[in-house]
Amino acid sequence: MADKTTVRDLLEGEIKDLYSAEKQLTRAIPKMAKGAHDAALRKAFTDHLQETKGQVARLEEVAEILQMRSSGKKCSGMEGVIREAAEALEDSGDGTILDLGIIGAGSRVEHYEIAGYLTAISLAQRIKVSGVVTLLKQSLTEEQAAEEKLRKIATALMNNATTEAGA
Ligand SMILES: [Fe+2]
Repeated sequence: MADKTTVRDLLEGEIKDLYSAEKQLTRAIPKMAKGAHDAALRKAFTDHLQETKGQVARLEEVAEILQMRSSGKKCSGMEGVIREAAEALEDSGDGTILDLGIIGAGSRVEHYEIAGYLTAISLAQRIKVSGVVTLLKQSLTEEQAAEEKLRKIATALMNNATTEAGA
């Protein structure tokens, strides 16, 4: 593979990375939804699955504008984060504690994506390709909202957990 020599090369790499990450998540999020005990948490994952599918489509649109292929790269970072999520799902025991573990994994997913979108946005702003920044910012906003939602659910779960023994 050719070395990256320009900001545009870097941006294309980031788009491919995000595309791979989002595609992997369309397969991983249903498992997280299924493993969640709390109804609000399950709904948060189910809702975010729909958003994630939209984010895949948005990245395809970005790739079209940039006249590049969206596929062709594997995001090994997200692969690792998803592997950790699978480990969190395997933990047995108290439902609330398991949910909090899943939220920790989900929060890592969102932060990883937020970092990717922020990077891609700053690169896209530099090369001034019309439409790309807007599309990427839409997905960034969804990721930030998803992360905030997970944090709120975690707070609610912990407030319940503190009334139980061992908290
Ligand atoms: Fe996403």
